Amino acid sequence: MSLAQDMVTVPERAESTAAKPNPAWTLLRRILVQPKGAVGLTLVVLYLALAIIGPALAPQDAFRQNFAQTLRPPSAAHWFGTDQLGRDVFSRILIGARATLGIGVGGVTVAFLIGVPLGILAAWRRGWIEAVLMRAIDVMLSFPDIVFALAVVAILGANTQNVIIAVGVVSIPVFARTARAVTLSVLAEPYIEGSVALGASPARVILRHVLPNISGTLLTLSTLLFASTLLSASGLGFLGLGTQPPFPEWGTMLGDSRSYIRSHPYLATFPGLFLAVSALAFNLLGDALRTIYDPTSRRAARRLPLLNFLRRRAAAPATAAAGLAAGLAAGPAGPDTAVVAVEGLHLAFRTGEGLLDVVRGVDLTIRAGRTLAIVGESGSGKSTLLRAIGTLANPQEVAITAGAVAIGGEPALGLSAAAVRDLRRRKIGIVFQDAASALNPVLTVGAQLAEAVRACSRLDPPAVRQRCIALLRDVNIADPERRLDMYPHQFSGGMKQRIVIAIALAQNPELLLADEPTSALDVTIQQQILVLLREIQRKRGMAILLVTHDLNLVARFADDVAVMYAGRLVESGAIATVLEQPLHPYTQALRASAPGTGEGRGQPLRSIPGEPPLVGQLPSGCAFRPRCPRSANRAECAAQEPPERMVASRQVACVFAEEALS
Ligand SMILES: Nc1ncnc2c1ncn2[C@@H]1O[C@H](COP(=O)(O)OP(=O)(O)OP(=O)(O)O)[C@@H](O)[C@H]1O
Ligand code: SF4
Ligand SMILES: [Mg+2]
Repeated sequence: MSLAQDMVTVPERAESTAAKPNPAWTLLRRILVQPKGAVGLTLVVLYLALAIIGPALAPQDAFRQNFAQTLRPPSAAHWFGTDQLGRDVFSRILIGARATLGIGVGGVTVAFLIGVPLGILAAWRRGWIEAVLMRAIDVMLSFPDIVFALAVVAILGANTQNVIIAVGVVSIPVFARTARAVTLSVLAEPYIEGSVALGASPARVILRHVLPNISGTLLTLSTLLFASTLLSASGLGFLGLGTQPPFPEWGTMLGDSRSYIRSHPYLATFPGLFLAVSALAFNLLGDALRTIYDPTSRRAARRLPLLNFLRRRAAAPATAAAGLAAGLAAGPAGPDTAVVAVEGLHLAFRTGEGLLDVVRGVDLTIRAGRTLAIVGESGSGKSTLLRAIGTLANPQEVAITAGAVAIGGEPALGLSAAAVRDLRRRKIGIVFQDAASALNPVLTVGAQLAEAVRACSRLDPPAVRQRCIALLRDVNIADPERRLDMYPHQFSGGMKQRIVIAIALAQNPELLLADEPTSALDVTIQQQILVLLREIQRKRGMAILLVTHDLNLVARFADDVAVMYAGRLVESGAIATVLEQPLHPYTQALRASAPGTGEGRGQPLRSIPGEPPLVGQLPSGCAFRPRCPRSANRAECAAQEPPERMVASRQVACVFAEEALS
């Protein structure tokens, strides 16, 4: 199977970069092809037209009272009848459109501009800021909307401007809570971690990744709240606290009609109808926009103007050559350089019960051009160790209690946030396990690659595009020019993982960290990805730290292996040495339990008896003792944790390691 075979079929209708359709027309067309969008947009346009030219269209003076003509039913002279003061209801509705819609739009804008930043701030900073903000919002939510709006208007005074503030303020909690919730879920996505790993600042992460992802939800919420804002404003108008007479506003008109609701129902019907249809119109339009701005629901990817201020401009056609070769020319580290040097590293989780040791005294070195694989059962601390080496450990969650880590000769612990970002930018690339969630679904692949390229270089847009194309070629993606404008959901799993690798390589890292990079892929694609990583490593001379459960993969792909158990490296050395003749009973058990690496093919696989110990609940002495077939009646095993020592060309932490040699 060719490397290109796992890619999805690309729609034949290629986009011409020379004659791109006007984005505004594209958006309009895509709204209108949806029935809800066509109806919603038409009604919204009619309403907006009404707000602008309504006063000019009014057939009669909406303020002129005529006591000879009060409470007249609809007729040719007064289409919607007259009110209790003899004023023409139709004219008043036309004139009232501006105030009514202005209150709706103004209220939502106030709520959006205050609520969304508060929600994002709470999600980003967490801790006491989140607690204080959310409790304040809970207090606001505990009052019914109309009571809260009444209180605001009572304090500020009854006029149109204060009604906008009042209905805006009551919607702030809804925006803040929603923005916090959706931001938290976006922040949990691996592509955020990827962006942070590229050295992106908090502002950049929020603008580039969080806002575009939450904009669809917020847009829909805005339209829904537009309807409820109108109703709150109408409620205030109904209670006589809205726009003050004689200026008409639909809610106020509705309120004025309440005394005549039985005898002259048309007085309430017409303003009520205009209000209800306006709310429906904005809802329909919002729903259509949500469908468009959610790229996973699109059949073809298109750039849209509303979100473009959040996204980078599409790169201009390529003119400058800045290929991968240019990056390589920067020069990989020499073969004897220790790209990673970890000494006596201890990591602990911060929990309610105090610190729980998860990594307990790890020493390791990875030289340029070599791959070290860390293997071990689930929960042994592999990912925690990898993240700490990649400077990605969250200090609120993980404490570095002892030890040192150096990347490319530079200390990687105890740095300021800016220095950490700089180190990541210059030296570290990361490939995550789940490529699907490692890519931002609302950004094109080109935009995500370009972000990675820009993070470490000052190339102009054409050169950035060229470099992105070269990176996609480097990971064997055919037709990269066209692929740049596609979204992640338009690629297969294998292709996505290649793109994740291309992003990780964009900064020409000295160290590539890969946490189970192929476990989500089928065997054929796994093989392709690993061959690809090998080729790239050979060209660039970078060091790779690979975390995996798969000993077969380790045997084929890595140079060195470190076996991790309960937070310690119990055996480490060259692949040929450790896997050919494992000395630690845990390594032996792992090997016997892996298909194809056991004593003989056709033999049943052996599982490792017992369970690995939980973090913070280690047995005394050697942590492997309760499961160790060699430990029976041996006081040495219970006396103390066996230190690592050199036995037969590898480091091993077992008092009786030599027994496996005989
Ligand atoms: N925030 C936390 N607080 C306490 N314990 C945690 C926390 N996060 C993870 N752990 C525990 O720490 C241990 C190590 O987790 P880690 O993810 O590093 O293991 P792993 O070796 O990568 O496992 P896997 O192979 O399943 O990915 C696990 O037992 C896990 O349950
Ligand atoms: S020290 Fe004892 S318990 Fe630990 S691995 Fe060696 S023999 Fe087993
Ligand atoms: Mg893990």
